[in-house]
Amino acid sequence: MKVLVILLSLTVLGGAVYGKMHKKAKLPKNFRFWTHTKSMVIPDKSHGLYGFHNIYANKKAYKTMIRSKKPYPNGAKFVVSFYDVVKKDGTTNQGKKLMDALMVKDSSAKDTGGWIFAAFDDKGAPKPINPKKDCFQCHADQAKNNDYVFHKYIK
Ligand code: HEC
Repeated sequence: MKVLVILLSLTVLGGAVYGKMHKKAKLPKNFRFWTHTKSMVIPDKSHGLYGFHNIYANKKAYKTMIRSKKPYPNGAKFVVSFYDVVKKDGTTNQGKKLMDALMVKDSSAKDTGGWIFAAFDDKGAPKPINPKKDCFQCHADQAKNNDYVFHKYIK
């Protein structure tokens, strides 16, 4: 898969210790009540996006996503929850939470395509990232035509 091949070139996710947090970059407390739109597993531990991923969309994001009417409106939000990948007895399961990654549509975030990017550790505390370098660059390189959103809704 092309995307996965390009993903392999990722060096560090969340490694850089700079870049100020956007004040709206808070992990929404209720995101587990949003619509689950997709899952993916990257089992390679050396991969920058290693983990079992579950993606959630809030109502604004979900409605836009399924109507394929882009761009997304301000307030549209996505969260990707990353978990350990645990293989046992022929099954592949979610292990412990690794982190959550957030995108919030906000047209004032001009440097990052009108999206606020943020990441949080397993306890919900903000991870020090550079949103432009650690997040937006990859989304811009590969998902620009879809308003910087990679995944498609899986029915
Ligand atoms: C190397 C490329 C790459 C980098 C760097 C990256 N992402 Fe992504 N991101 C992806 C891919 C690929 C998907 C889609 C995953 C899927 O289809 O299951 C994605 C999906 C997402 C989504 C769900 C919406 C969407 O675009 O599908 C959010 C939210 C997200 N990423 C946030 C972040 C944040 C925050 C960072 C930085 C801390 C980040 N990403 C860094 C490649 C990247």
